[in-house]
Amino acid sequence: MRKKITVVGAGNVGATVAHRLADKQLGDVVLIDILEGVPQGKGLDLLEAGPIEGYDARIRGTNDYAETANSHLVVMTAGFPRKPGMSRDDLLKANYDVVKGTIKKIVQYSPDCILIVVTNPLDAMAQTAFRVSGFSRNRVIGMAGVLDSARYRTFIAEALNVSVQNVQGFVLGGHGDTMVPVPRYTCVAGIPVTELLPQEKLDAIIQRTRNGGAEIVNYLKSGSAYYAPSAAVVEMVDAIFNDRKKILPCTVYLEGEYGIRGLFVGVLVKLGARGMEQVLEIKLTPEENAALQKSAAAVKELVQVIGV
Ligand code: APR
Repeated sequence: MRKKITVVGAGNVGATVAHRLADKQLGDVVLIDILEGVPQGKGLDLLEAGPIEGYDARIRGTNDYAETANSHLVVMTAGFPRKPGMSRDDLLKANYDVVKGTIKKIVQYSPDCILIVVTNPLDAMAQTAFRVSGFSRNRVIGMAGVLDSARYRTFIAEALNVSVQNVQGFVLGGHGDTMVPVPRYTCVAGIPVTELLPQEKLDAIIQRTRNGGAEIVNYLKSGSAYYAPSAAVVEMVDAIFNDRKKILPCTVYLEGEYGIRGLFVGVLVKLGARGMEQVLEIKLTPEENAALQKSAAAVKELVQVIGV
């Protein structure tokens, strides 16, 4: 039986996620949005690309949550994107209402699904989805680390003029200005990046990574990034549906790992058929740990504002 995936929000990120899911034949897709006509139109357009692209995925758009029933996985992208000069946190209250309302309806129709949250501010919206759904923590996962790490890896590959496939590395912490790239654990074809790039170049790459979302918002003027974010979501869906046990940086509810309890923060996890199957606790230096704690404190401030 084919898997069923609901994508909430048929905007830039949601529609591109649907497109990539169909291309990779990961399942049938329901696109749902509050706007009438938009999910239906985009869904039909994607369906009609099937004969050319060679996918059989059934894709349809709707405004009716009944059509999302019994989804195996739900990707939450509904909400408002950033405008130039806006931080992700400015989106907090508006998107809190959207996520709270939509997750309630999703859970009513798909009580056994796995949730991947994309709506910003990411960590606080993942925590909202977790609280509202009442799901166990393995079934609520925020997408941020895969994207931030992809940006980081892109800039390292560019600086060294090597294939992006040679660059392994990850970003920890919240999806915001306090995110924590960890060069000590970054390598290029097995060589520590600290042997290949001078500290000041690495510092510049880390700063550009932290600013990666804003860099794109500033170019686009209206709207925020969606090609790399959607690719990141689909890597996570692929890891789950194919039970790959893949280690990826994701935002999950910590229960004492890294000394953090009761908060969604980006860490390395193992993704498989049950969703988030394990939190990997790696050794951090006092400085790296301090940066992670600072990032967690920034997330905590937000979740306290919305009381989740
Ligand atoms: N229910 C369903 N859909 C909604 C609701 C709602 N209550 N409120 C808004 N939406 C829909 C909008 O109608 C729109 O089609 O969410 C969609 C968002 O699409 P875009 O505005 O194109 O935003 P996008 O770039 O896709 O970003 C979505 O992901 O990366 C984050 O920061 C980004 O929070 C933002 C989210």
